[in-house]
Amino acid sequence: MTMKTENTVWHSQEVSKKDRAQLKGQKPCLLWYTGLSGSGKSTVANAVDDILFQQQCHTYLLDGDNVRHGLNGDLGFSDEDRVENIRRISQVAKLFVDSGLIVSTAFISPFQSDRDMARDMLEQGEFIEVFIDTPIEICEQRDPKGLYKMARAGEIKDFTGISSGYDIPTNPEIHVKTAEQSIEQCAMQIVNHLKQHGYIK
Ligand code: ADX
Repeated sequence: MTMKTENTVWHSQEVSKKDRAQLKGQKPCLLWYTGLSGSGKSTVANAVDDILFQQQCHTYLLDGDNVRHGLNGDLGFSDEDRVENIRRISQVAKLFVDSGLIVSTAFISPFQSDRDMARDMLEQGEFIEVFIDTPIEICEQRDPKGLYKMARAGEIKDFTGISSGYDIPTNPEIHVKTAEQSIEQCAMQIVNHLKQHGYIK
């Protein structure tokens, strides 16, 4: 990417991330959900967000379909556009983490290199990769938006898992199997991880 901002300097702010986190009584982090379309990323991320909110945690959820309507409305699904999609989301998520929040992102994010880039942008322990591991056959059976059907019929090109790739996460912090557990169980698996590792009380 060409930088067009050579003459700007980064301001360090008076109120630090640590100050903001202390006020909120939590350790800021980024739950990075990754998985196929229809795997349940948004559903599980929303369930987790709901539980955290009820426990008075300060959170924010960035969701694939919504972000693609706004900030990333100019991007499609070529490999190049997906890389740019994830780059922008990583930058936004980093700002939200900096503000002291427990942030969730729910995007297919098919490439390991992009997920690693997002991880590298954050401090040690802040990035939590959550693999929503649902077999493609089940995603295709669920087909909530009818997209698999269209992709099989050749009406959508570059469709993840059919005509575009997905790198299976090599070492995710949390591995969730939605086909074997209820949404509530999946959500609790993630909330328990946050408790066990001291992100929340
Ligand atoms: S990503 O690959 O760039 O991370 P993202 O999560 O933002 O994808 O968007 C995926 C969503 O866009 C899917 O859940 C689906 O609703 C929709 N979509 C439309 N076209 C495609 C496509 N070709 N491949 C995957 N998802 C698509």
